[in-house]
Amino acid sequence: MSSVESWPEPVVRVQHLLDSGIKDIPECYVKKPSDRPSLITESAISEMNIPVIDLQDLFSDDDLLRQTTASLVDSACREWGFFQVVNHGVHHQLIEATREAWREFFHLPLEEKQKYANSPSTYEGYGSRLGVEKGVSLDWSDYFFLHYLPISLRDERKWPKLPVSCRELVEKYSKEVVELGGKLMKIFSTNLGLKENYLQEAFGGNENIGACLRVNYYPKCPQPGLTLGISPHSDPGGMTILFPDENVSGLQVHHKNNWVTVKPLPNAFIVNLGDQLQVLSNANYRSVEHRVIVNAEKERVSLAYFYNPRGDIPIKPAEKLITEDNAPLYPCMTFNEYRLYIRTRGPRGKAQVEFLKSPQ
Ligand code: OGA
Ligand code: NI
Repeated sequence: MSSVESWPEPVVRVQHLLDSGIKDIPECYVKKPSDRPSLITESAISEMNIPVIDLQDLFSDDDLLRQTTASLVDSACREWGFFQVVNHGVHHQLIEATREAWREFFHLPLEEKQKYANSPSTYEGYGSRLGVEKGVSLDWSDYFFLHYLPISLRDERKWPKLPVSCRELVEKYSKEVVELGGKLMKIFSTNLGLKENYLQEAFGGNENIGACLRVNYYPKCPQPGLTLGISPHSDPGGMTILFPDENVSGLQVHHKNNWVTVKPLPNAFIVNLGDQLQVLSNANYRSVEHRVIVNAEKERVSLAYFYNPRGDIPIKPAEKLITEDNAPLYPCMTFNEYRLYIRTRGPRGKAQVEFLKSPQ
């Protein structure tokens, strides 16, 4: 697998741009007029929200209750590819504590964070861009990226040492979120007409799936109408379990040609399908484009947990979903090969998964 070792331009931490007291954002963050967000909220669109699903009954002994929850998940996957979950089993205090530890991390002096500065060869650590093309437009965010699974990729020494609670919280948080991910994988499998463990096994099995955390830090922005926190993209992996900032909205989902702003509920996670589930389900499920807008008054911290196939396993549409009328739409490819695209070019909507569709 080829990958680039270093960034094409000196890395600028968006958060620290503001320390210099700038009033206008640098040109490289200014989007083309057609890509800029519309910050008008008083429209019919603002009344829309992604489905909210209570997972309480997901594993109930009562078949009917279980089935009802599973079919709500199925409809949300088919209609939106995005939904919020409540009663998901992850401790609320743990989520809050983890998020606040990360906020503290980002508020540390620059020199401390620079110890974890990342490179495009693995992306692990403290970063400020996605993609290695020179001269491209950049997004208004910094982030921290780390691996939890497979265990062979887990290296706690690469996780922040400060604040002192950070490593332990990440460990506990990861365990609970990964457990939730495993439950959702079972529901997705059965909803697609596959064996309960099909998707999990296709991802490499319990200990071998890829699970990685990307903590996004969106600093306040003096000109939020000109830029984006993250440009439109679909997540390249399996699914994402996101803890948004319930105090600051920012995530927008592309739905029926509109950008719908997600209104986060307290303690809820946002779940969305990624490209690998689109491939495995042969487009019965589809990943959905999303982007993030930024805010002049408030910073925003989100925790994006990516639940992915192990990097070196070939992924292709499930045999069971292939029939005479439904030919496989995607070629077989490992996730490591697949994600080189976004790692090289940065967020580009759904360009990659659409491009891969084999000619019919
Ligand atoms: C991502 C992402 C959304 C958010 O990290 O891929 O889409 O609200 N994050 O931070
Ligand atoms: Ni995303």
